[in-house]
Amino acid sequence: MKKIYIILIAIALPFLFSAVQDTQYIILGWNDLGMHCANKDFSKIAILPPYNNLKTQVILKGDASSFPQVVTSGLSVTYEVPGNTYSVGKTNFWSYSNALFGVTLAPNIGLTGAALSGNMAATGNVFEVFGVPLTPHPDTDLINQHPYQLALMKVFDQNNNLLASTQNVIPVSNEISCVSSGCHSSEQDILDSHETVSGFNINGPNLCASCHADNALGTTGTPGTPNLSYAIHRRHQSMTNNCYKCHPGVNTNCFRDTMFAAGMTCQSCHGSVQNVASTIAAGRQPWLQEPTCGAVNCHGSNYAEEPNLLFRQSKGHGGLFCSACHGSPHAIVPTVQPNDNLQNLTLQGYTGQLNKCVVCHGVNPSSPGPHGAFPTDIEQLTDDYNGLSDLKQNYPNPASEMTVIPFTIGNRGKYRIEAFDSNGKRIALMVSRDFQKGSYQTTFNTSFLANGVYILSLSSDNFHDYKRMLISR
Ligand code: HEC
Ligand code: HEC
Ligand code: HEC
Ligand code: HEC
Ligand code: HEC
Repeated sequence: MKKIYIILIAIALPFLFSAVQDTQYIILGWNDLGMHCANKDFSKIAILPPYNNLKTQVILKGDASSFPQVVTSGLSVTYEVPGNTYSVGKTNFWSYSNALFGVTLAPNIGLTGAALSGNMAATGNVFEVFGVPLTPHPDTDLINQHPYQLALMKVFDQNNNLLASTQNVIPVSNEISCVSSGCHSSEQDILDSHETVSGFNINGPNLCASCHADNALGTTGTPGTPNLSYAIHRRHQSMTNNCYKCHPGVNTNCFRDTMFAAGMTCQSCHGSVQNVASTIAAGRQPWLQEPTCGAVNCHGSNYAEEPNLLFRQSKGHGGLFCSACHGSPHAIVPTVQPNDNLQNLTLQGYTGQLNKCVVCHGVNPSSPGPHGAFPTDIEQLTDDYNGLSDLKQNYPNPASEMTVIPFTIGNRGKYRIEAFDSNGKRIALMVSRDFQKGSYQTTFNTSFLANGVYILSLSSDNFHDYKRMLISR
């Protein structure tokens, strides 16, 4: 008899634990920058300290009678980086924090007081933690760098019940390559170039930002000394145009996102090293004024940041940060680092921006959502497909309230399905995401269209197919 009870409990336990996750909530997390760069050795040169920022928004899912809500009250959110529990010894930052920043820090505590795990604070409708002093070395590997470790974030209710959790990349790299790039013989060689500067600590340590103003650290510098971004890019502009000589880096490849996959480079958005410097000379605020998605020759106003805010500061649909659906700058999903794609893959079953309305709404909304996008459920009919990509005729055609659009994908990649009116104006973007080979169909809600002729289009970078659709009621 006793035995049976034990077996029953053993069977019931996994169910009890899985029942704890309340499917009414989802949590979306991200890192504010696509990469955080930090020195490893602070004895000579300190450009940036270990300092990572995590953000999350918690959504109470909607249903047929209510919209989803971004919620904070009565909730608490924790963060941790499983497998990375200490930093002292992985960097000598704690030996120099006093000399560099004027503060004596407890072991493994960063400049803001944050530890490697703890609670995130609610500000407005977002939970955040600043200054997590993470290194690229998990506890099990003190030799190789792991720039794309996962942070685990969990949301609890007042009774400490786990409501939902998520995993996001907490990116960090020590790849500052002044010496390893073969450019400088040693860090001392860099210090020696400053020997005529008064107040300079020729034997180190030196916080570059103490004299050179730096918006990344909030320092104002000493009068007459150029800001750090200007000094460094101007000094090197005629020597290299390779950003990975300094930014992380040939091993880290911090720029890894959907635009990297499409062939863009740092220069496509930022221009040359010289341009980074000359735009500062012309008034650009380093770190605070950067390229934008919404620029006229990029994605335009339908996909723009909020006025005068950066991508990482902007919110869009439903009060959600752009990053909640798209990921971090330089890591706009889908990226070539599988860890970046994990959250959206888990939530909607495929990678790419969060575009499956039911993930948050519970049901398909009847009006357009982010950027005017319509709910589109894609049904995969077969996956053993070996033919060509093809947009089939929609049915019924003529359509009235809704129509089914079948299509096949012959080569995996990113495809869009759009509808245009007879003047060539786009009236709906139904899908823009990665597809595997296969045959599919999607249902298009046409109830908002007037009678007339429309063009349906299936396209990717190197493929285009059209069909005529009639609406008649
Ligand atoms: C004690 C103050 C001080 C510190 C600390 C300091 N610098 Fe400088 N730096 C200066 C001054 C002053 C100049 C000369 C500015 C000028 O040429 O007008 C200078 C010049 C430079 C230049 C050359 C600019 C040019 O266009 O020629 C670079 C590059 C530079 N510093 C980088 C750094 C780096 C990297 C660090 C950290 C290792 C650092 N500095 C730390 C004060 C400092
Ligand atoms: C598709 C355009 C694009 C490309 C390509 C790109 N960047 Fe950026 N970069 C941005 C945007 C947008 C921001 C502002 C992001 C924000 O903070 O909201 C930015 C910001 C930055 C910043 C400031 C820190 C930050 O994240 O805000 C650095 C440093 C930077 N980029 C370096 C690089 C380097 C190095 C490369 C190539 C390895 C690169 N960028 C490629 C668009 C781009
Ligand atoms: C010689 C080293 C070096 C090279 C080469 C270099 N950078 Fe930088 N860059 C730095 C350093 C160091 C900082 C950090 C300055 C700070 O903390 O303010 C920086 C900061 C930045 C920033 C943020 C500050 C700002 O001005 O908005 C951007 C953007 C940036 N770099 C873009 C680039 C791009 C794009 C390239 C290649 C075309 C490039 N950098 C090449 C060293 C370099
Ligand atoms: C609720 C999720 C969500 C939020 C928040 C969101 N987007 Fe989007 N975004 C989407 C979806 C879904 C698409 C694809 C449909 C489309 O292209 O219209 C998209 C597409 C885009 C594209 C075009 C990509 C392409 O393939 O051309 C850009 C650029 C973009 N968003 C920028 C932003 C910016 C900037 C913000 C913040 C102001 C933002 N988004 C906020 C969901 C979101
Ligand atoms: C990441 C979560 C999320 C996703 C994905 C999402 N929404 Fe929303 N949506 C919200 C939130 C949050 C609100 C705000 C509700 C409120 O204001 O009370 C909202 C509001 C709306 C509204 C009400 C009007 C408005 O814009 O505030 C409509 C309509 C809507 N969404 C349609 C869509 C459609 C269509 C899709 C899919 C293409 C979609 N949403 C995808 C979270 C999401």
